[in-house]
Amino acid sequence: MGPVRLAVIIGSTREGRAGEEIARWFVAQAAGRDDMTVNLVDLADYDLPARYTAEPTDAIRSFVREVGLADAFAVVTPEYNHSFPASLKQAIDYAYDEWQAKPVGFVAYGCRSTGLHAVDQLRTVFTALHATTVRDVVGVDLLRGEPSPECADQLCQDARVLLDQLTWWGLALRDARAARPYVS
Ligand SMILES: Cc1cc2nc3c(=O)[nH]c(=O)nc-3n(C[C@H](O)[C@H](O)[C@H](O)COP(=O)(O)O)c2cc1C
Repeated sequence: MGPVRLAVIIGSTREGRAGEEIARWFVAQAAGRDDMTVNLVDLADYDLPARYTAEPTDAIRSFVREVGLADAFAVVTPEYNHSFPASLKQAIDYAYDEWQAKPVGFVAYGCRSTGLHAVDQLRTVFTALHATTVRDVVGVDLLRGEPSPECADQLCQDARVLLDQLTWWGLALRDARAARPYVS
């Protein structure tokens, strides 16, 4: 069925956000791999309703379509007050079936904790959506100026590990969904 289709989701929509550069750095780490194709999903491009609605708008449909097309996800998230930003939760909640039985990994960043509190909370959310979060995380320390040339080796290695896990789970779960539809 071809390479894993990885969606890299930029979770922050803040003006002047650090997230876009970090997401582009991560996408570059996947370049040249023949086991995956990468699609950058920038939440700032979707005019998702701030007040939750079950009535799908064009923006909701378009975002949900991207989630449905992906086999695996890398969520690029900052830490806001020991959690993840509201823009990300708002978007996550607009899809449901489309997350199921798919792997989710995290590229997290912050000023004190490299975003690990945000990741802990996102694991709970994705478990509720029947997604599978993978073990290893890429943690970017903004106070150290990462991703900088000095830290590139370690971060690139962390990115490789995450991409390998997403590929393994992406292929395994895609085969499993094809063999037997997931029932929640
Ligand atoms: C509302 C808010 C709360 C924050 N809380 C934390 C925090 O709890 N831990 C942390 O490490 N950094 C925290 N930060 C710093 C952010 O991680 C940092 O500003 C980062 O650049 C935000 O991501 P963004 O620029 O992509 O929006 C906070 C930033 C904001 C705006």
